[in-house]
Amino acid sequence: MENLIKKAAKDLAKSKKVVVLTGAGVSVESGIPPFRGKGGIWEKIDPMEFAHIDSFMRDPAKVWNILIREMKDVIEKAKPNNAHIGLARLEELGILKSVITQNVDGLHQLAGNTDVIEFHGTFAFQRCLKCEKKIETSKVCLDEIPPKCECGGILRPDCVLFGEMIPPEHLFRSGKISRECEVMLVVGTSAVVYPASIIPVDAKESGAKIIEINPEKTPLTENISDYIIMGNAGEVLKEIVSEVELLL
Ligand code: APR
Repeated sequence: MENLIKKAAKDLAKSKKVVVLTGAGVSVESGIPPFRGKGGIWEKIDPMEFAHIDSFMRDPAKVWNILIREMKDVIEKAKPNNAHIGLARLEELGILKSVITQNVDGLHQLAGNTDVIEFHGTFAFQRCLKCEKKIETSKVCLDEIPPKCECGGILRPDCVLFGEMIPPEHLFRSGKISRECEVMLVVGTSAVVYPASIIPVDAKESGAKIIEINPEKTPLTENISDYIIMGNAGEVLKEIVSEVELLL
């Protein structure tokens, strides 16, 4: 893995147009479980029953009790780990331009990245189903489930649930920057959820070098990624950034 770390550091240091696509794997070392694979949330509960817009509308209390309440606890305790910190440092060094994240935990912004496209929305806010008002999740009282807005409407996370559209502005902007970047880091994603999973394909077709960081292979690994560094994001990104700093 050592020489791949050095290879990635060289590829990054010589580029000024690097974009990263991240998934739940970058937040695992912050204590937020992934969705798939070892310890994955979807190994315990069925996403179609608890994370689909139709199931939320049918029984919001059930989704709040089984999924959202726990997400609130876990995310509120989470701090950026070495993966988030490494990506923020790459922005400071003028190498990383934008982060496209599938995560809703806000840890990239907390670590210091300033251009973060939250492709699946954000858990930082809840949105009223009736008046669309947004309320900070940390300010939502869970004495009543499902929690309600002052107008009486039910609150839901400002995240994209299964069965919902990705906000068009995120689709457009992610497509644009993935077609313009020279290098795309793909970190901590199983690359199985569309349309996020085709972002690296767009980048590849537009001539970018694709570097995966993941302890496991993904559907991108064989045909899209130029190479995969098989390890934990925190440790790998920390080592890559140290190598990059020696090259600058
Ligand atoms: N470092 C890097 N990668 C890791 C680590 C780690 N420490 N731990 C796990 N991984 C990898 C796993 O091997 C897996 O490939 O992170 C990936 C996590 O995959 P998922 O849980 O499927 O997360 P993600 O790809 O972000 O899911 C996409 O699915 O359920 C929806 O909306 C949800 O945004 C999510 C989307």
